[in-house]
Amino acid sequence: MAPILRLEHVAKSFGALKVIDDLSLAVEAGEALGILGPNGAGKTTLFNLVTGDLRVDAGAIEFDGRDVTALPAHARCRLGIGRTYQIPHPFGAMSVFENVLAGAAFGAGRREAECYDRCIELLVLTDLTRKANQPAGSLTLLERKRLELARALATAPKLLLLDEIAGGLTDSECQALIETVQAVHASGVSIVWIEHIVHALIAVVGRLFVINFGQKLAEGDPRAVMNSPQVQEVYMGIEAE
Ligand SMILES: Nc1ncnc2c1ncn2[C@@H]1O[C@H](COP(=O)(O)OP(=O)(O)O)[C@@H](O)[C@H]1O
Ligand SMILES: [Mg+2]
Repeated sequence: MAPILRLEHVAKSFGALKVIDDLSLAVEAGEALGILGPNGAGKTTLFNLVTGDLRVDAGAIEFDGRDVTALPAHARCRLGIGRTYQIPHPFGAMSVFENVLAGAAFGAGRREAECYDRCIELLVLTDLTRKANQPAGSLTLLERKRLELARALATAPKLLLLDEIAGGLTDSECQALIETVQAVHASGVSIVWIEHIVHALIAVVGRLFVINFGQKLAEGDPRAVMNSPQVQEVYMGIEAE
């Protein structure tokens, strides 16, 4: 299979701080990849470079066979890169439904009336139907995270980037989220999921990529990676099971 996403020798610094350091990574079409790494390792910055929220200092990013390195975020979204934000960014004064509609209309380029049904489906999927007409600014943090997911899916992504959506969930909520992400993946969407909740990640992804100080620390089969000495050293005591 051809990669849907390829990063070649990507670098990003903030002032003197080198946050992504000559990083190369490929995601195969249809793959679900998990990204793990300590706080500050550069995971969210990596997503920002892929989506075009930030520009690379060096290196190239290819998506679905095209060089997107110079494209703005909205153009990358139209090509099929969808994301959730670690810190949710709803349009607070708009209703929950309108937030999802904005994803479908602007992100996927659909006419508004064409996407109502899909938006309702996504509110059902993310368990937000009861909140549909409330201002998004009134949602709790966990509801905002679900709205991030609904809005990202509304853009009809080929590649979905999930940035720490499982934190703070109860066991049953986490299980429901795992099933939702599995269903999205089964529908043909490629997934890259940054998550600290290792068991949730391992339930969904076929491969793990571990980042430390903006560089690759380990990559491969999730259990082998979790049990590798380099990763054990960074994640003392975290077991793969
Ligand atoms: N826009 C920014 N300006 C300056 N420093 C930033 C910016 N974004 C992230 N950083 C810094 O880059 C490092 C990596 O951040 P981030 O990518 O958010 O890490 P992670 O998601 O792995 O926790 C941190 O030290 C963070 O403070
Ligand atoms: Mg982060």
